[in-house]
This record gives sequence, C-alpha cells and structure tokens, in this order.
Amino acid sequence: MKLLVSAAILALSSMAMLSDAHISFRYPCPRRGPYSECPQPKDNEWNLVDYDVQSPLGTHDSISDPICKHPSSFAGVRPTFTAGQTVQTKMDVDVNHNGGSCQWALSYDNGSTWVVIQDQFQNCLASAPASSTYTVPVTIPANAPTGKAILNWIWNNNEGNRELYSSCADVVIQGTNGGSLSGVAPLFANYGPSSPLIPERAVSGGDWGKKYFDARKPITVTVPAQKLKRQVVDMN
Ligand SMILES: *[C@@H]1O[C@H](CO)[C@@H](O)[C@H](O)[C@H]1NC(C)=O
Repeated sequence: MKLLVSAAILALSSMAMLSDAHISFRYPCPRRGPYSECPQPKDNEWNLVDYDVQSPLGTHDSISDPICKHPSSFAGVRPTFTAGQTVQTKMDVDVNHNGGSCQWALSYDNGSTWVVIQDQFQNCLASAPASSTYTVPVTIPANAPTGKAILNWIWNNNEGNRELYSSCADVVIQGTNGGSLSGVAPLFANYGPSSPLIPERAVSGGDWGKKYFDARKPITVTVPAQKLKRQVVDMN
C-alpha cells in the first residue's frame, strides 16, 4: 500500500513537471527518460529518472546541464542503425517555440567529440503540434564507422528564452568496421554567456545565427576496427 501511494505521488509530480517541459527524443530513447518502452532504472536508480527530460540545457545567461544532460542511459538494449539508413526518429513535443535550427551529431567517444550528420536550419520542428509525438527522419551517413555511438539532437529555438536543447540516445552504428567520419563540429549557441548568442528570429529581423553555423569547424573522427559480437549491444 505504501508503495502504491508513493508511486501515485511520483506519477502526479512527474505530470506536473512535464507540463513545463519542451522537446526531447522519444525514439531512440533519450538517456534516463521516463518512457515505459525505454531502458528502466534498477531499484536503486529511480531517483535518476529525468521526468523533465524535454527541458533545455539552460539559456544564454546560464548553463544548467551538460551537453546530453546525462552521462549515461539505464542498462538496456541499444537500437542498431545501419550506415545509410534513414531513421524515423520521434520527438516528444510539448511546445515548439515556433521552430528553430536543429543539428544532429554522432559521437563515438562518449561525447568528447561530435560530428554533425544532418542540419535543418530555421524551420526545424516549426510544424510539430503541441503535445505530440512528431516524426523526423535522420539519415546515418553511408560511410559511418561501426561502433557504439551517441546520437545527439541539438536545437536552438526561434522564440522565447534563448535556449539550447540536447537530447542524447545511446545507439550502435553498423557500417564500416574501422573507419572515419568527417563533417563539422556542432555549434552550441545560447549555452552560457561565453557561447554565441542567437537572438529571437522575429525580434532580430530574421537573424537566425547563420554566421555562427557557417563558422563551424571541420572535424574528422577515426574509429578503430572492433569486434561486435552481437547485433544488439547493451548500453554499457
Ligand atoms: C561517459 O562519460 C561519462 C561522463 O560524462 C561517464 O560518467 C561515463 O562513465 C562514461 N561512460 C563510459 C562507457 O565510459
């Protein structure tokens, strides 16, 4: 009975917190998200569940969370994506802030370095209805190396507080065994006072931060050949 009561209280408080949330991945599963189809916490990990997983990492004024928000996922099975595959990702949308600019990036080194694999500037998620699960296709590069990777959705909103969002999913890429991936390193704008400031697009007469996106630096990551015993690999 006691357990039931606390579960009910937890459910209530999570609903309250989700009501001022914004956007995150729903598929693939975001790290430590509260979704029943995602890896679940162990008995001693319930305090680590992020019931506010859709919230931003902070604003241009102050940083509240690191890139990805969380250092790891709960133990579970990573989805495997194939190089060249277009993944129908699903975003958990609370409000869309009139869209913004999305970058999707992969890291093969646990978040130390990132390579952008897809951009959608200015109108990203602008047509996502409030309180919806919204599908966005993301293509894994045809030459992506094989390995455990983090897929990071990074977003600067057009309207409202000058925020940065980052939602990370632990995945496995099946591609070239031993290879490299080139692209640009992502822009982390509106992420603390020393980051570039992208103003509200409407207020600024259409400035959406193009000069900062254009200035992203080229990067190549090299992933050593590896033995992946099974197609599905656990989170750790
Ligand atoms: C990845 O980095 C985080 C810190 O950001 C650390 O807590 C975690 O243990 C690392 N995971 C692996 C598999 O090295």
